Amino acid sequence: MKANKIGVGVIGAGGVGEKVMEVFSQHPDAEIIGICDTNKKVLSKYFSSKINLYLDYRDLMDHENVDLVYIAVPPKFHYPVTIEALQKNKHVLCEKPLAHSLEEAEKMLMTAQKKGVIHAMNFPTFYRNAYKIMEEIVLSNRLGDIQRIQVRSHFPAWPRDWQQNNWINTRDQGGFIREIMPHYIQIIQHLFGPIQPLQSLVNYPEAAAESETGLMAAGSLKNGTPVVFDGLTGTGEKEIMEFTIYGTTGVVMLKDWNQVYFGEKNQGLIRLDDAAPINHLLDLVDHVLQAIKGNDAKLITFKEGAAIQQVLEELICSRR
Ligand SMILES: NC(=O)c1ccc[n+]([C@@H]2O[C@H](COP(=O)([O-])OP(=O)(O)OC[C@H]3O[C@@H](n4cnc5c(N)ncnc54)[C@H](O)[C@@H]3O)[C@@H](O)[C@H]2O)c1
Repeated sequence: MKANKIGVGVIGAGGVGEKVMEVFSQHPDAEIIGICDTNKKVLSKYFSSKINLYLDYRDLMDHENVDLVYIAVPPKFHYPVTIEALQKNKHVLCEKPLAHSLEEAEKMLMTAQKKGVIHAMNFPTFYRNAYKIMEEIVLSNRLGDIQRIQVRSHFPAWPRDWQQNNWINTRDQGGFIREIMPHYIQIIQHLFGPIQPLQSLVNYPEAAAESETGLMAAGSLKNGTPVVFDGLTGTGEKEIMEFTIYGTTGVVMLKDWNQVYFGEKNQGLIRLDDAAPINHLLDLVDHVLQAIKGNDAKLITFKEGAAIQQVLEELICSRR
């Protein structure tokens, strides 16, 4: 390994893990030292590479060249794996949601702060140009007074065809609330501050082990602006992923994560162009690596992650 490269250990090389690992491998300042996955079939994809392969994450963390651990295991395992990495003084990039409970999230934050390592989370939308355009519209006051913030996520089927695994539709750790809503909570709290206590109505199917089918929830910002979450699965429509901020002089909407629409009074919403497309995941990875090198970086830390977890728990914990 070159002395100036940051050694990366990847834990969980499934759907998202593989994608982010690919981006780390493209970055000139990073080197993938090892991959851990409990599924031998997943590891077998890398048999012909020079990367060290592990079935137990503790063994990967013991490798002296691993500086940063990227954790992309299912949500229930974020806590034990992250705590182990922090105890071994590794920097951590963790997938969302941060943890499986607020208590776990707070312990992760405390441990990371105590260890003084870099702690970051993968919220890719935050690094997308579409979000940056939306943020610019909000900050330049083109919306007037904000009247309502609304999230609408409707799925013809959950999980989606491309998202099949053994946990995503379990009530224990899956469901669209845990999987999708953290992205929007992050944006809302980043732009506007904490979401105040929510009233939440969650619908569940008869099968006790299966995840929720519906969500209607409302909270507010500190100044009273309503924040509305609307989620539904199994609907007879095309998937809808919309995040809309309504103001007295304009409306801005983020659609499907990568498209931004804007309209003013008495106008329809018009899609705004992304003049200079970027690889947002590469940007995220670059910020994490810059932070480790001691440079300025834009990170979503475990502090934000724990604040997101609090809202998430309020969304999920309220029962029908
Ligand atoms: N940031 C995003 O936009 C985004 C997108 C999708 C998923 N995610 C999050 O990423 C995480 C992983 O999601 P996914 O869709 O890749 O799931 P996945 O099931 O496809 O992949 C998880 C992998 O972890 C492995 N694994 C499970 N337990 C392990 C352990 N103890 N040690 C090592 N490996 C273990 C599994 O074998 C699997 O290969 C979840 O927390 C999910 O919420 C984030």
